[in-house]
Amino acid sequence: MMKTDLTTKIGKLEFRNPVTVASGTFGTKDEYSCFLDYEKLGAIITKTITVKPRAGNSMPRICETAGGMLNAIGLQNKGLDDFLENKIPFFSKIKTPLIVNIAGETTQDFKTLTQALDRQKKVVRALELNLSCPNVEAGGAGHMKKRERILEVIKVVRDHTDLALFAKLSPELGDVLEIARDVIKAGVSGLSLINTLKGMAIDIERRRPQLANVTGGLSGPAIKPVALRYVYEIKKELDVPVIASGGITTYRDALEFLMAGADLLAVGTANFINPQATIHILQGIQDYCKKHGIKQLDEIRGISCLAKNN
Ligand SMILES: Cc1cc2nc3c(=O)[nH]c(=O)nc-3n(C[C@H](O)[C@H](O)[C@H](O)COP(=O)(O)O)c2cc1C
Repeated sequence: MMKTDLTTKIGKLEFRNPVTVASGTFGTKDEYSCFLDYEKLGAIITKTITVKPRAGNSMPRICETAGGMLNAIGLQNKGLDDFLENKIPFFSKIKTPLIVNIAGETTQDFKTLTQALDRQKKVVRALELNLSCPNVEAGGAGHMKKRERILEVIKVVRDHTDLALFAKLSPELGDVLEIARDVIKAGVSGLSLINTLKGMAIDIERRRPQLANVTGGLSGPAIKPVALRYVYEIKKELDVPVIASGGITTYRDALEFLMAGADLLAVGTANFINPQATIHILQGIQDYCKKHGIKQLDEIRGISCLAKNN
């Protein structure tokens, strides 16, 4: 029986399939390993790592909304030293390519993270630069909204590693297409689209915002059409690899993103609903390809961008 070749290449990187996990939605190490074999995934993207440990924002910091959720985690993580000491040894035993997501309060932070992770090339295959977290204010991603700072960070990171670099963007930063052009010029290898959209919810009994942080990042099916639109527009305009995230919940969503041109498909909020979502999506893609006689994903990747009426 014919099996579709799901291999996906980005530059020198090769992934056994395009299905990966969106940063911050798949634990920090082995939390999901009782639900699935990590080696079945095309890649693993880590939660954002910062130089110093971060406690994150005050609770409550997540709440459900129609078709999605709001989160204001605030980049809680144990910092770089813990990552090197406790996470790298775990990931070094897994053959799946590891993409490490990093963020910094300063350009120096990004430099420190890059230099340290560049020394882990046997395990770390690429960096995803979180330039767009909506939940960090003082000196954090808030200041990254300034275009010049983003470009400065990319330049410094580029100067200190030859690892593949993906700039994670959000419409919260402004005109995505314009920023995309700038960050590509500054030296990134690809884009990660999209981070969450800033939103809020109010508890009418308490008469207060649901989140202690007041606002948070909206994710899940509610943002899928927005994410799809950006992936489509970017792939139509620019020849650049894209990691797509934004409401990918079923294999049908995944195929829509593939047809819009996405290279990797990052499953986020869906992992909280069904920890095996990635595996079901993968199987669904295989079944669809078999049904339609598709031998390689490139037969359908970006196919919707070719449509004449667009
Ligand atoms: C609880 C939660 C935590 C997240 N943490 C991070 C993070 O640490 N770094 C990051 O770049 N994106 C983070 N994100 C954004 C996701 O990686 C993803 O881009 C976004 O949620 C859209 O995908 P989805 O709709 O499938 O969740 C987080 C999202 C959620 C829901």
